[in-house]
This record gives sequence, C-alpha cells and structure tokens, in this order.
Amino acid sequence: MTSSAMPPAAPAPNPASSLEVPPTGPVTAPLATPAATQAAPGTPMIAIDNVSKWYGDFQVLTNCTTATRKGEVVVVCGPSGSGKSTLIKCVNALEPFQKGQITVDGTQVANRKTNLPKLRSRVGMVFQHFELFPHLTITDNLSLAQRKVLGRGKDEAVAKGLALLERVGLKAHAHKFPGQLSGGQQQRVAIARALAMNPIVMLFDEPTSALDPEMVGEVLDVMVELAREGMTMMVVTHEMGFARKVANRVIFMDKGEIVEDAHKEDFFGSPRSERAQQFLSRILSH
Ligand SMILES: Nc1ncnc2c1ncn2[C@@H]1O[C@H](COP(=O)(O)OP(=O)(O)OP(=O)(O)O)[C@@H](O)[C@H]1O
Ligand SMILES: [Mg+2]
Repeated sequence: MTSSAMPPAAPAPNPASSLEVPPTGPVTAPLATPAATQAAPGTPMIAIDNVSKWYGDFQVLTNCTTATRKGEVVVVCGPSGSGKSTLIKCVNALEPFQKGQITVDGTQVANRKTNLPKLRSRVGMVFQHFELFPHLTITDNLSLAQRKVLGRGKDEAVAKGLALLERVGLKAHAHKFPGQLSGGQQQRVAIARALAMNPIVMLFDEPTSALDPEMVGEVLDVMVELAREGMTMMVVTHEMGFARKVANRVIFMDKGEIVEDAHKEDFFGSPRSERAQQFLSRILSH
C-alpha cells in the first residue's frame, strides 16, 4: 500500500507552545481552558487506525492510519475530493466508517456504547461555513450549547461566551445577529463558540477558504494563538503559511489515502511522494 509510514515517534515540541503568561505586558486569560484529559503529553489524543469508508460502492477512505498527540497541531492537505473532510468528520462521528478504529482521548468513536453527544461536546469543530444560528444573537450562539449540553447556568454560560468573544476581539458585537457580521468575524465567533465548551481537541475544516482575503489573517491569528497555547488541533487547510508557522506535522491525502504523514520540515523540505511534490509546487506557485 502507498499509505503513510507510521507517524513520527514523538511530536517536535512546538517551540512557541506555552500556557505561561509572559513576564511583561498585559496579563490575559488563555483562549482555551483545556478540559481534563486522560492522555498524558505526547500520547495519542486522536488515534486513527486503519480506517476505511465507503459511500455505497465508492471507497472514500482507504486504510487511513495516523495519530495526533496531545498538544500537537496537524495540518491535513490534499487535492479536492481526496477525503480530507470525510476523515475529520469521522473523528467526531459526523460520518460513520465501516472499517478500522478511531479513539479520542481513549474513547472509541464507533463503539455503540459511546455517548456521542458527550464526545462531540469535547471535540470542537469549525467548518468552512460558520454554521452559526442565524436567528440567535452572538451571545445566544455562544451560550446555547453550554447550557443545553453542559448544563451550565445562563449567567455562567453568557459570562464564558463574552470572555471568549473579547479574546477574539469582538466583544462590541455581542448583541448582534450573525448576518450583521463579516465572514471573518463570524468565523471568529464560531471558534469562540467551540472553545466555550472546553474542548480537548479542535478540528477545523478549511476555516478560511470561504473568506475574503483580507479576513483570512484575523482568523488565522486566533488559530495561531490557540496552537501556541497547546491546543491539540487537526486542521484541514491549504494555508501553508499557517502550516509552516505552527504545525508539527503535515498529512497529505490523495484519493482517500494518507500518502504522507511527515514532520513539517520534512514535508516542506522534500516531500517523499511525487503526488505531494506536484501538489506543493502547484499551491506554492500561487
Ligand atoms: N455524502 C456523500 N455521498 C457520496 N459521496 C460523497 C459524499 N460526501 C463526499 N463524497 C465524495 O467523497 C470524496 C471525498 O470528499 P471530501 O469532501 O472528503 O473531500 P475533500 O478532500 O474534503 O475535498 P475538498 O477539498 O473539495 O473539500 C469526494 O469524491 C466526494 O465526492
Ligand atoms: Mg473538504
């Protein structure tokens, strides 16, 4: 099989990753308050093991194996239709798969006994199209799932939501509806909403690809900050600047297979497969 080699033994420590407050400058709360996890640093937080999936006769994923360790940032890239969205949707059981196994913080995603709403509440997901509730204010968008899924009281949920809104630079917009915000602002609200659930991992599916170019940076800045605070992240993106800055590893998919799973330096320095070389030269030439 052409699938990837096993992932590297241990993540390269993210040099910028730190929960410490700098000794000088304003003291701000971290974006993410990581929830308690079972996984110790360096152990797999997301383990994808030999996963295959079919839509009818069409095999969309073939023997995908990779692991994302606690605190690691993994960028997933590859041509359109290669299975990137499908793979990360399998991680929080938005898509079922027929073969293999996925565990998140030790919990088997496809096990019938797994409490999926509980699992999903711990796995933050941000999509290309922000999926905010259009009829709810930003404050209500931020507090709804906290109240319904985590059972937080209204005051606590609103306070948490507003604190995160402030951290993504949007406190003044709390009373508005999503349609009154720009795409970049809506995406930052979507990230804040996911973080309000104290997720143990964050999944992103092309979070900036629907944005006007001038709004991409403001969303990436929030994601960079999150990565530097030590959040475990799987990010489908073609923003190679982001990958170079904060990724530990890059996964390259093609036709449903993980063709490369490499440290960032190796991937950008000398991708092993011809398919990844062609892909990189195409996207880096623009
Ligand atoms: N619900 C579905 N039923 C049948 N085929 C599907 C379904 N969803 C996706 N596919 C097919 O599965 C393949 C992988 O789709 P997927 O959305 O995972 O690709 P992707 O790598 O995320 O692509 P893109 O970069 O365009 O977002 C594609 O060929 C797609 O047409
Ligand atoms: Mg996709």
